[in-house]
Amino acid sequence: MLAKSIKNIAQSHALGVESSCDETSIALLTLDSGTMEQRIHSQLDVHQPYGGVVPELAARDHIQQLTPLTQQLLTQHQVTPQQLAFVAYTKGPGLSGALMTGAGFAKSLAFGLQIPAIGIHHMEGHIMAAFIDTDTPPPLPFLSLLVSGGHSQLVLSRQLGQYDILGQTLDDAVGEAFDKTAKLLGLGYPGGPTVSQLAQQGDPNRFKFPRPMVDRPGLDMSYSGLKTFTLTTWEKEKHLCHTEAEQTQLKADICLAFETAVCDTLRIKTQRALQQTGAQHLVLAGGVSANQRLQATLSKLDVTLHQPSSQYCTDNAGMILQAGWMRFQHGLIDPDHSFSVLPRWDMAQLKAIV
Ligand code: KG4
Ligand code: ZN
Repeated sequence: MLAKSIKNIAQSHALGVESSCDETSIALLTLDSGTMEQRIHSQLDVHQPYGGVVPELAARDHIQQLTPLTQQLLTQHQVTPQQLAFVAYTKGPGLSGALMTGAGFAKSLAFGLQIPAIGIHHMEGHIMAAFIDTDTPPPLPFLSLLVSGGHSQLVLSRQLGQYDILGQTLDDAVGEAFDKTAKLLGLGYPGGPTVSQLAQQGDPNRFKFPRPMVDRPGLDMSYSGLKTFTLTTWEKEKHLCHTEAEQTQLKADICLAFETAVCDTLRIKTQRALQQTGAQHLVLAGGVSANQRLQATLSKLDVTLHQPSSQYCTDNAGMILQAGWMRFQHGLIDPDHSFSVLPRWDMAQLKAIV
């Protein structure tokens, strides 16, 4: 199958492109060894002054970065474009303009080289990150807890490339809740890492935040109430601070209470999903999977935890390329030559790879 789909032996590598939000990333895979290399350009400086991602600026910056990043990566590894067997790119979900830049770049390159371009679902990419650089990838069936800036989902895979959404957030995504919490505490963007860092100096006995929806049956989640709880706590307590140090301590205590409540809620829902499905393997993926408290909390569950290495937690092209490689090997190549993208794309629509 593999030998048939690769046109000739010179096509020894493949390229991955990620541009769904505020990271431009290019990855290069050596097909026979499985070695993955990648470059990530973060747009943090571009969006920081605005306190969040500005879609138009994101798209413009991707356009600036895609070609030089690709050239640098290929040159560094002495690979020519003619050695590429396929290009995998993020087709959705994500910011429409940002997705279009990556799709346009990947499709043009593939068209010029007469090789396939494979459009990948961003969240499938996050799951496939758990298959990179490991001798023990998750065996089927496995449960995935997907936590990112746009998604919070519990997903069961019975077959490769097939995803049953068991539960999801009814309002804010977990990463979004981290980002909004950081914003209202004046901690800047992106919120996850800053909230998490400040939480390390928090007093665990000062506040106890609610665990939303854990008393209700089912696997759906909700985080907007927690964010509001953060706001009311901050508004109520900040006047009692007399010094900057006291205010920083208050923020740290709130961050810790917020983070602990998020981790606890996710643990409870994940445990419920494991019981419900009987799954014995759990993939923790998406940008929030970089959170150390969440990793520690989930590692206490009675399940084998599969966690991508840190460079593959937040948005990256390696995960997109890994998903593309899996689909390419099974002949699942995108026949569509247009630059169409799917900014809202339901993962449950993906077809199993058999
Ligand atoms: O997957 P990702 O890189 O982009 C999307 O697909 O959305 O996830 C980004 C999200 C942001 O909301 C960011 O604040 C959050 O992941 N994040 C974290 C941490 N690192 C990134 N949240 C909590 N703790 C972290 N260490
Ligand atoms: Zn992501």
